[in-house]
Amino acid sequence: MAKKALISGVTGQDGSYLAELLLSKGYEVHGVIRRSSSFNTDRIEHLYQDPHVHGVKLFLHYGDLSDGASLQHLLHDLQPDEIYHLGAQSHVRVSFDIPEYTGDITALGTTRLLEAIRECCPKARFYQASSSEMYGLVQAVPQREDTPFYPRSPYGAAKVYSYWMTVNYRESYGLHATNGILFNHKSPRRGETFVTRKVTRAIARIKAGLQQDLFMGNLEAKRDWGYAPEYVEAMWLMLQQEKGDDFVVATGETHSVQEFIEEAFACAKLDWKQHVKIDPRYYRPAEVDLLIGDASKAKRLLGWQPKTTFKNLVRIMVQADDDLLAAQLSGKHVRA
Ligand code: NAP
Ligand code: GDD
Repeated sequence: MAKKALISGVTGQDGSYLAELLLSKGYEVHGVIRRSSSFNTDRIEHLYQDPHVHGVKLFLHYGDLSDGASLQHLLHDLQPDEIYHLGAQSHVRVSFDIPEYTGDITALGTTRLLEAIRECCPKARFYQASSSEMYGLVQAVPQREDTPFYPRSPYGAAKVYSYWMTVNYRESYGLHATNGILFNHKSPRRGETFVTRKVTRAIARIKAGLQQDLFMGNLEAKRDWGYAPEYVEAMWLMLQQEKGDDFVVATGETHSVQEFIEEAFACAKLDWKQHVKIDPRYYRPAEVDLLIGDASKAKRLLGWQPKTTFKNLVRIMVQADDDLLAAQLSGKHVRA
């Protein structure tokens, strides 16, 4: 019988790639979606609309991380083998504007799900989408599984809470519960307000004459950026381990926001200095200056390592936004 997986956050960047991966492995995939007044299933439409593509259907269920009862009912009815908890208010800058909501969804949402698992399907394997943002004001370089956390935002603090709840449910109740501490990862499906996608989307619009300036915040921050489809493979590998554990997933390279901008504008043969302007509104009350991860544990125990280079990743994203805009302008837009 096919294994059954449940994904919270299935409509997000990672959720969509993970759903694809699990379907390709023969899983029956269930996703939690929240009610929205406009379509929020763009990234998974190609999977949902054609159940024959991968042979197994993707099933979507309304639910919300703020609504524990909906999660309980779902788990009770589905009895999934694996649960990938990717749903979150995931934007760091926005978390300063809505800290209480971020805590409710990104922190307490995890507890609601863990409680539902404990109650309804304690044998299920649980993946928690932990984040390099937990390292914040970094206490060591590079950051590893044993590096102490020092979150610098309501989002980072909420993720630290969820990290520890995951460890606690593993130790207290014997759940197969795992933290993937993922460093930044992106793709053509990255949300448009995160820095990399904001830049590549703007480049396509500048080239098409639809926009002249790109307003940015802090260009000095450094991030360890990987390719999202490779990172969801690491999630799956983690849940195939005998026991729950904690793993860093990263490339081991770091680049500043400015380096990303330079590389992306160069790909499009544009001079970034003519277009990029600084707008202090995009600065954060507290910044995470430097992230660089050491994924040697993931390499050793999972056999996982990154494949796509920084330059290639920039090129993939610039090209994808170019193609997307061309399709939109010609009225043929279909999401990848
Ligand atoms: P994303 O694109 O922002 O997706 C977030 C998902 O969470 C979306 O499906 C969203 O639904 C859903 N969601 C938000 N609020 C919800 C609620 N109240 N109830 C149910 N679902 C809700 O994020 P991502 O980049 O794919 O990241 C996936 C996870 O990994 C997140 O937890 C993120 O914090 C974490 N993470 C990401 C990175 C990274 O670099 N991408 C690195 C480390 C950790 P809608 O589509 O309806 O908004
Ligand atoms: N979003 C954004 N917009 N960021 C900007 C801008 C801008 O105009 N200008 C400069 N930045 C800087 C931010 O200050 C930050 O230092 C860096 O670009 C990256 O910002 P984001 O792309 O918003 O990502 P993030 O690193 O804050 O958070 C992402 O990665 C985390 C993993 O470390 C998110 O995906 C989180 O959900 C994830 O946990």
